[in-house]
Amino acid sequence: MTIRSVIAGVGAYLPANAVSNADLAKRVDTSDEWITERTGIKKRHIVADGEKTSDLAIAAARAALGSAGLSGDKIDLIVVATTTPDETFPATAARVQAALARPGIPSFDVQAVCSGFVYGLAVVDNFIKAGQAKSAIVIGAEAFTRLLDWSDRNTCVLFGDGAGAVVLTAGEGRGDSADRGILSTHLHSDGRQHDMLYVDGGPGSTQTTGHVRMKGKEVFRHAVTNLTEAVHEALAANSVQASAIDWIVPHQANKRILDTTAEKLGIDPSKVIVTVDQHANTSAASIPLALNQGVADGRIRPGQLVLMEAMGGGFTWGSALVRM
Ligand code: ACO
Repeated sequence: MTIRSVIAGVGAYLPANAVSNADLAKRVDTSDEWITERTGIKKRHIVADGEKTSDLAIAAARAALGSAGLSGDKIDLIVVATTTPDETFPATAARVQAALARPGIPSFDVQAVCSGFVYGLAVVDNFIKAGQAKSAIVIGAEAFTRLLDWSDRNTCVLFGDGAGAVVLTAGEGRGDSADRGILSTHLHSDGRQHDMLYVDGGPGSTQTTGHVRMKGKEVFRHAVTNLTEAVHEALAANSVQASAIDWIVPHQANKRILDTTAEKLGIDPSKVIVTVDQHANTSAASIPLALNQGVADGRIRPGQLVLMEAMGGGFTWGSALVRM
């Protein structure tokens, strides 16, 4: 018998304020044509004044609990993947715990930027497999636009805000790829690439929050290579062929990255869940937002094989193969 972390529920939340490329072009020197052609993005949601990452995280987690048919007092562990915590400390996860779950359970944040949700899944999967939790919530939540320099058109058009969450519960499997639940996770980092994508501030350096800085072309090149490797790693670890994957739910950075990665893997682009057009890049929130979209519209169904993959600042990157 193998313990598996089964996705029992999925939920998401987007701030009410949707901003189109045309809206953005009124305040930034850009155009709908440029953004659409280079990135595939058409709009993004932006937090309201006073709206915090924890507000988004709590709303998404509440929706995921509803979809799982579980009440918060049944949850043993909460992990929030975020780059934009409400405060430097305490962790945003503690706010979620206070709002939804029993006092006393462990809750903490994971910081791996755009790979944060895959990192969070891996951490929680290992807690569940070790028998230290029977049910958990993993949330990707970002008020990422708070980190943007609105005078830098190279970056400010690319990002948006939102949150997505999954409820994981311990299940039993046979130890093969037919099991329901997380089949494997694969995490990587390479801190030598720090300067490719980073925020130029922080409590330990400038004592400011800082703004996102990025070398777009280099990030693009590394993303396609690293993501392709992470997918191959997940397939090999489970002796699964690419043709067996029902859906790829990738981190949503750029439509061109999604298309190029699918092409390199020989996977039909129609098997890729795409939300970057509607949400832009929401960092750690983008995978659970896309997963929620695929489940909500009926494309992703129980029993199907779903591959998640992400890359972000650090660099960090990774993948998770899951049977729904
Ligand atoms: N509107 C209009 N023009 C712009 C804009 C804009 N918003 N931004 C840049 N330009 C201009 C540039 O100034 C440049 O003009 P120039 O030739 O006169 O100097 C021209 O467009 C081309 O700029 P490039 O940087 O060469 O454009 P590129 O084709 O590389 O596209 C992009 C830029 C979209 C950022 C691309 O490199 C990319 O997608 N990189 C991946 C980075 C990414 O997705 N990061 C997200 C975070 S990382 C992650 O999540 C994995």
